[in-house]
Amino acid sequence: MAASSRTQVGIVGAGPAGLLLAHLLRLHGIESVVVENRTREYCEARQRAGLLEAGTVELLRAAGAGRRMDAEGLEHDGIYLQFEGERHHVNIRELTGGRWVTVYAQTEIVKDLIESRLAAGDPIEFGATDVSVTDVTSDRPLLSYTGEDGTRHEVACDVIAGCDGFHGISRPLIPDIETYERTYPFAWLGVLADAAPSTDELIYSRHSDGFALYSMRSPEVSRLYLQVSPEERIEDWSDDRIWAELQKRFAVHGSDWRVAEGKITDKSVTPMRSFVAGPMQHGRLFLAGDAAHIVPPTGAKGLNLALSDVTVLANALSAALRDGEWALAEAYSDTCLRRVWRATHFSWWMTSMLHVNPAGDPFDDQLQLSQLRFVTSSEAQATALAENYSGFQPVRFSL
Ligand code: APR
Ligand code: PHB
Repeated sequence: MAASSRTQVGIVGAGPAGLLLAHLLRLHGIESVVVENRTREYCEARQRAGLLEAGTVELLRAAGAGRRMDAEGLEHDGIYLQFEGERHHVNIRELTGGRWVTVYAQTEIVKDLIESRLAAGDPIEFGATDVSVTDVTSDRPLLSYTGEDGTRHEVACDVIAGCDGFHGISRPLIPDIETYERTYPFAWLGVLADAAPSTDELIYSRHSDGFALYSMRSPEVSRLYLQVSPEERIEDWSDDRIWAELQKRFAVHGSDWRVAEGKITDKSVTPMRSFVAGPMQHGRLFLAGDAAHIVPPTGAKGLNLALSDVTVLANALSAALRDGEWALAEAYSDTCLRRVWRATHFSWWMTSMLHVNPAGDPFDDQLQLSQLRFVTSSEAQATALAENYSGFQPVRFSL
């Protein structure tokens, strides 16, 4: 016999999307159950991107989830774009009339939101197995799972939120869903290093051997990426080879500036793809975050999109479940997909401008260099980059 219970919103997945949704719903006075198939330790250790748009920072603050971010996050006014051995600054704050970005790792947001939910006395069902969602076209969809102690649970919900990432169970429940996809002929080799960054802001560098990104996690920890082949074997990249390649791709003509080296504590290769699925809603099932869309990491939009989705969803579910007004919930997919496609275009554009075609196409090379010169010399072009990078038309959270 399964243990039966009742909640308002059943949330599948305790990534940033599921966790922030649960948090915002609580602020709206709406109950939820969060079911996650990994352990808490696993969720808190996953290395992901770490750049927040100004609107995401404001959102986390407004939701009372920004205390540690405000203390430890690094606020940046702009970025550097580097090509042909020259480094150019793009001042996002000036170009956008005050917008910015904040470096604060996704793993830290996950830790903050888990701690806040548990402190409020609301559980998260970590380590759940056989998670299933049924009856999404009825007004009592069912979320079922087996808990860590082996007990089978059946939770009757008003609504289910599929926040279960790209490989989750929710997206396949939407019949006739349309998908749009682009895979790129390269990947990122990412390293985390105990080295104080030798740059004050992120550097996006196009080098004839491939793209490189200089990011950071704290004043003591650098996060660096190299464009590599998607078939690249991590075993073939010794620490020495990684540092030599980074020094080469970030070298500035006529300068002795260097990447600060240190102990590498994490190394991984991530493939790059764009993916959008819609509609993001079917009956009482709503998809959010990576469950519905993936962007390549150039520009770091994935986390920001996931948090925007759930903010729109929390506002919509509050109107639906508290006031019986479903118009915002019906519009959810269209509202989100407009932002998703803007970020999908921007991420594709940044990726295409900065990565070297492995097939070696001199025509592509010249187009990229021309685009980079345009962006770094035209205020109109730089402003378009700055608007997208710091977050176009941010979603607000309203109680
Ligand atoms: N049942 C329960 N939980 C599941 C299931 C399942 N069947 N399948 C997946 N999950 C969990 C995963 O273990 C993960 O913790 O759902 C969570 C999804 O989290 P994320 O993949 O982090 O996705 P999301 O919350 O949408 O956040 C998007 O993650 O990939 C990055 O760049 C992306 O920063 C963006 C962010
Ligand atoms: C990161 O810090 O991981 C990061 C930052 C900016 C990006 C991508 C990743 O564009």
